[in-house]
Amino acid sequence: MNNDAVIQALRQALAADPRNGPLWIHLADQLMAGGDRAGAIEAVRMSTQIRETARAAGKRLVSLLREDGQLAEALIRAEALLDDDEDPDLRAELELILELRGGAVASDADLSAPAEIAAEDADDVEPAAESSAAEEEAREPALAPIAAPGADEPDENWADQFDWGDLRVTFSDVAGLDDVKKQINLRIIAPFTNPDVYRAFGRDGGGGLLMYGPPGCGKTYLARATAGELSARFVSVSIHEIIDKYWGESEKYVHALFEDARSNSPTVLFFDEFDALGASRGRGDNSFWRVFVDQMLQEMDGVDSRNRDVLLFAATNMPWNVDPAFRRPGRFDRVLLVTPPDAEARRQILTKHLAEMPGGRALDVDAIVAKTELYTGADLRHLCERAGEAALELSLTSGEIHDVTQAHVKAALGKTQSTALEWFATARNHARYANEGGQYDDLVSYLKAIRKW
Ligand SMILES: Nc1ncnc2c1ncn2[C@@H]1O[C@H](COP(=O)(O)OP(=O)(O)O)[C@@H](O)[C@H]1O
Ligand SMILES: [Mg+2]
Repeated sequence: MNNDAVIQALRQALAADPRNGPLWIHLADQLMAGGDRAGAIEAVRMSTQIRETARAAGKRLVSLLREDGQLAEALIRAEALLDDDEDPDLRAELELILELRGGAVASDADLSAPAEIAAEDADDVEPAAESSAAEEEAREPALAPIAAPGADEPDENWADQFDWGDLRVTFSDVAGLDDVKKQINLRIIAPFTNPDVYRAFGRDGGGGLLMYGPPGCGKTYLARATAGELSARFVSVSIHEIIDKYWGESEKYVHALFEDARSNSPTVLFFDEFDALGASRGRGDNSFWRVFVDQMLQEMDGVDSRNRDVLLFAATNMPWNVDPAFRRPGRFDRVLLVTPPDAEARRQILTKHLAEMPGGRALDVDAIVAKTELYTGADLRHLCERAGEAALELSLTSGEIHDVTQAHVKAALGKTQSTALEWFATARNHARYANEGGQYDDLVSYLKAIRKW
């Protein structure tokens, strides 16, 4: 059996026996051997969910993530494991991660051993006392953006560093997903535009909406479109970025972010890659990480009236990694599955992309729709680009414009596939074995409907 056949056999075995931790590890080994690190990471991730293999897999995951440059998560996981049990290998791994992070500064004195290492790093990156102001300006500011709003007098320019998203997108740009749009309308837009009606029913705004689903299906796009619908400001923050950039100061940053949103309302505040917060499970109380999560919770809780004009969204491809504390009432208690476009939505997306290419309007869109079941929005764009490239290449070599043809699309179809399939395989296991409180009921119905259950 060649490597691919082994992998396929393992996947089949795991479909029948997904609680088999060692088998997931074995799959990870095979995937690594074939050079598929992303796949290996996913497989190891699965075996971290199984008690028997959790710790060994956790260690393995730390190394893989570190190799993959996913340092924020690697660090968090290494720390969590070290909180449970000291381990020289892991300690060395942690030091390596901290070294790779380089510019990151840990100022939290509560961190034990790793803090000392990080503090040494801090000496390297903090401007020496005698460095000129101009030099300081020129540096990538490690912590400066936080200092401003965290201090007594907020710096008005502070917010300029973000991409506020001038580009206006509305629901009409998002193809399909009618149920999701309806839920966003009911739960986010309407409470904002009709606060009195909601109050009459004893409901107050507050809380947020968590979107999950395979990558490339429009979660970020929907959050942006919600802001567009309301002509609200859109602020998108990646959790990984907060961890990487504002290490040791991130709770101040989070506070500043919320304060900024409150004083510039309405603002859609969107937290991307929200699963990064979930790696906190099992961590000690003194960890910086706990402080950060608590700060997030504090900003979301107890100050409902102040948050009234702050519309909170979060998105994740890995809802199973989201800290359950965030799912309680008043927080991200509303969870929405964002799925790949259905046939009608695919027709819309394809029509729009193809219209931008020579000859694109003459193509048989319905034929492409039929061949792209479960393609994500991003996959469809990629498909069109590939087909377009073939025609572009012909045009460049011949010196005259060549139309995109159905043959180009067909060739591109042969080279692409739905990137959501991998996600469905992983998600199915979580939905089968970790569907506490029916949290994945939507997913179960969907998987059944697309015959992936
Ligand atoms: N339903 C959709 N309608 C239109 N475009 C879509 C849709 N889903 C995805 N896309 C396209 O794919 C891109 C990637 O989507 P994105 O929102 O970043 O996905 P996610 O956040 O779920 O990973 C979007 O910018 C958009 O161009
Ligand atoms: Mg996204």
